[in-house]
Amino acid sequence: MKLAIPKERQPHERRVAATPETVKKFIGLKLSVSVETGAGLESGISDDQFAAMGATIAPDEASALADADIVLKVQRPLIEEVALFKRGAVLTAIMSPGADRPVVDALAAQGVSTFALEFVPRITRAQSMDVLSSQSNLAGYKAVVDAAAIFGRAMPMMMTAAGTVAPARVFVFGAGVAGLQAIATAKRMGAIVSATDVRWAAKEQVESLGGKFVMVESDEMKAAETSGGYAKEMSDEFKAAQSALIAETIAKQDIAICTALIPGRRAPTLLTHAHVKSMKPGSVIVDLAAEQGGNCEATVPGEVAVVNGVTILGHFNVPSRLPVDSSALFARNQFNFFQPLIEKDGSGLKLDMADEILKASMLTRDGALVHPSLTS
Ligand code: NAI
Repeated sequence: MKLAIPKERQPHERRVAATPETVKKFIGLKLSVSVETGAGLESGISDDQFAAMGATIAPDEASALADADIVLKVQRPLIEEVALFKRGAVLTAIMSPGADRPVVDALAAQGVSTFALEFVPRITRAQSMDVLSSQSNLAGYKAVVDAAAIFGRAMPMMMTAAGTVAPARVFVFGAGVAGLQAIATAKRMGAIVSATDVRWAAKEQVESLGGKFVMVESDEMKAAETSGGYAKEMSDEFKAAQSALIAETIAKQDIAICTALIPGRRAPTLLTHAHVKSMKPGSVIVDLAAEQGGNCEATVPGEVAVVNGVTILGHFNVPSRLPVDSSALFARNQFNFFQPLIEKDGSGLKLDMADEILKASMLTRDGALVHPSLTS
């Protein structure tokens, strides 16, 4: 079997879906690997490093994908790339099918079997394939580093001969994977950290990292977590109480890191224009939810906005701002997804469609759309 790694072509994408480490492992499983020239450059990987592990370097995408049985990508292809896939090829990527239905339809029509890595269930067996966790963790870290880089003050308390520098106060909205890493990073930098979430389980996790948990005391919170561990949309009454609590808290903060998401919905609005107005000039908001509409009303998705002296970072694709590490973890997630599927002699893939990981993540097969979110 031939496996191909094309260069990413979606805007703002600097990652690559394989590294020399994973190429070596795929070749060890008796696959041949073709890497499009320059695919790894923005992640700090040269063609020579891929070639040294046994990959062939293809001069363009068409030759990388020609005859490829497996195509690894970070993000879904552009529609014009789809015609380059051979009929029967298997593609894995973060597909976000709701954001670009025509490309999913085109992949089906091209006879490509497509797996959306973001739909891999968060079961124990699939933890090492979990791209949401590996990438959100880095995004949470990078959000704090980005904020610290433009914040005009230091993060830790410093006692100097010239006087004391006060520690920064950091508030984190949403204590999932990204939020918990943001808390840990801000703590390591010496900030005073508080956080909020709608799930009870988050309280203990925030406190175990040394953060203060700020929450609306409500019975609704006890039922706010789905069986998958995700948050539900809260009632209007809860939202009003949460907004009042944020109003009390936010004016005293220097940095806000927004990570709150509800799967399949627009991100909840947690920081209103009035909240932003109450913050001190020089404060920084990083809105990791920008791509899902943002947690902050003043966020301009994809842009840096300044409102009353408060800087609001709405960068898209924050994991891609740390492409070396995010590519390394993403590539291992991809390898872990494929390893159990590859026949011992490297001659084919065993796709057992009763397997819950494959069932949950497969979007297209044999010319048809097969995922329930696309067929209902
Ligand atoms: P996510 O990215 O969907 O959401 C981020 C956070 O925002 C969540 O903690 C959520 O509760 C919070 N949130 C949503 N609405 C909010 C609101 N109105 N106000 C404040 N916070 C709000 O979540 P993520 O990071 O993907 O984690 C979801 C869950 O999955 C967590 O319980 C996590 O522990 C669990 N998890 C399980 C894994 C496994 O078992 N393999 C791996 C990774 C995460």
